Amino acid sequence: MTDKELFSAAVKAAENSYSPYSHFRVGAALMAADGRVFTGCNIENASYSLTNCAERTAVFKAVSEGIKNFKAIAIAGSSTKDFSKPCAPCGACLQVLSEFCGDDLVIILSNGWFKLSDFLPMKFSSDSLK
Ligand code: THU
Repeated sequence: MTDKELFSAAVKAAENSYSPYSHFRVGAALMAADGRVFTGCNIENASYSLTNCAERTAVFKAVSEGIKNFKAIAIAGSSTKDFSKPCAPCGACLQVLSEFCGDDLVIILSNGWFKLSDFLPMKFSSDSLK
């Protein structure tokens, strides 16, 4: 699957976004080391802080199915049908992703690809606890 195809899967996942409060639809497509793709969308709640971001939905779906190694994630977010403006992952999602990925995880946005370390150069990890 190409970067473009993974990004298209993220746009498609955004169709299931439950976002009646922000009206901002986000989709994520997470590619596991074995090539399987897990998608996710943002799921909001009347108790706003309980909202789950698209990226974390995808990670939790994968991990709950026993998949814990990932190579790439595409993210698409928009309040319209136009997903051309880049939607960067939030800090909470970067932290959750970093639990299961190396610094070299590829992050695909509408404007190109990046590495996890571009967004989170010094992560809090299990090493920090030693
Ligand atoms: N959101 C995500 O799904 N992923 C992010 O990385 C940032 C924000 C969602 C949460 C909320 O439903 C909406 O975007 C507006 O903040």
